[in-house]
Amino acid sequence: MKKLFILPAGILLFTLFVFLGYLSFGSHKFNGEVLQQPMKAAPIVLRANTGPIRLEDYRGKLVLLYFGYTSCPDVCPLSLANLKMALNELTPEEAAQIQVIFVSVDSARDTPESLGNYVKLFRDGFIGATGTREEIDLMTSAFGAKYKINPPDANGNYSVDHTSFTILIDRNGYYILKFPHGTPPLEMSEDLRYLIKNEIPVSAQILAGPTYTPVVCAVTLVPQYVQVGEWMYQHHCAQCHGAELAGNPAWQIPLEDGSHLPPPLDQTGSAWQYSEPDLLNLIKEGRNLDQPIHMPAFKSALADWEIQFIMTYMKSKWDVNQLNYQHGFMTLTPQATPTSQSTPLPPPTPATPSP
Ligand code: HEC
Repeated sequence: MKKLFILPAGILLFTLFVFLGYLSFGSHKFNGEVLQQPMKAAPIVLRANTGPIRLEDYRGKLVLLYFGYTSCPDVCPLSLANLKMALNELTPEEAAQIQVIFVSVDSARDTPESLGNYVKLFRDGFIGATGTREEIDLMTSAFGAKYKINPPDANGNYSVDHTSFTILIDRNGYYILKFPHGTPPLEMSEDLRYLIKNEIPVSAQILAGPTYTPVVCAVTLVPQYVQVGEWMYQHHCAQCHGAELAGNPAWQIPLEDGSHLPPPLDQTGSAWQYSEPDLLNLIKEGRNLDQPIHMPAFKSALADWEIQFIMTYMKSKWDVNQLNYQHGFMTLTPQATPTSQSTPLPPPTPATPSP
């Protein structure tokens, strides 16, 4: 009876591990179309019912921009309804980091006031805005959008043809991605959630250069290896670097004799900034061995493969950007400075100097 139970439970546990591994380390494939070259959004002023607004006012948020007009029979209401549903998929905290702006290209009929009322029908917080003909032309051409006002019928009614994709501007003000018309709300929300969670904006990752694979994190950590690594870590390293890899609480305070207390090895430390061979070498050879407090050499106590298991465990505590960085998929550039909205990454100088 017992044996019968253990097998399914084992399979379940294994599946769970694989799934958790996938959740935390899996690559994100964007559903929207990622621009090969992110574009700094032009400094544009629009008129909303609250007064003039500038795109820069929303730095730190993700902006979803859509061009349309309120008399639009089907395309615009569908797009706005999809945006509303995409935001509904997110938690209120996540949704608060997104600003939807609906820009009317039909300023002859749409006023900032009527636009304000129109977008409110979809979701509170959506902004409706428009501008003079020149402002609209400047804005549409800046984003590669097009529109055409058709000749009026006998009653003076007219329709407007317009591009119907949704433009996504990242927290640093870069146009990085567009959702084609009809992108399912669930797919949009997946991309949005990824962008909200990612500390380094995708624009910075793309701008970082050709060494970076913009949307794929190719580092896969096998959950079982992580587990073995954790066990070994607890036996060989935890007494100095802490059970949770957080290092000695006072690691940043320099000691009088010039030695260093054990630094953190998780994402708050700088271990992720070493290449894999350098890290292996550091653990094998130790560091500052002549100092009273030092990193001991492990080459006689542990085989290389054992150290590699420990490194896999350490990596499971790093974020996707740090993993990408260590594996050379991403470089840190000035643009990679996180915005005030996100928690800053540690500076790229190692916390403890190498001899
Ligand atoms: C006896 C205490 C001690 C043990 C045990 C120990 N370390 Fe260290 N470790 C240190 C100290 C102290 C430093 C800082 C050394 C320096 O820079 O002078 C350090 C530094 C490091 C660094 C460099 C981190 C950085 O950001 O520069 C890594 C990586 C590291 N240790 C990994 C390990 C691993 C993996 C183990 C287990 C196999 C381990 N350590 C076991 C004390 C220890």
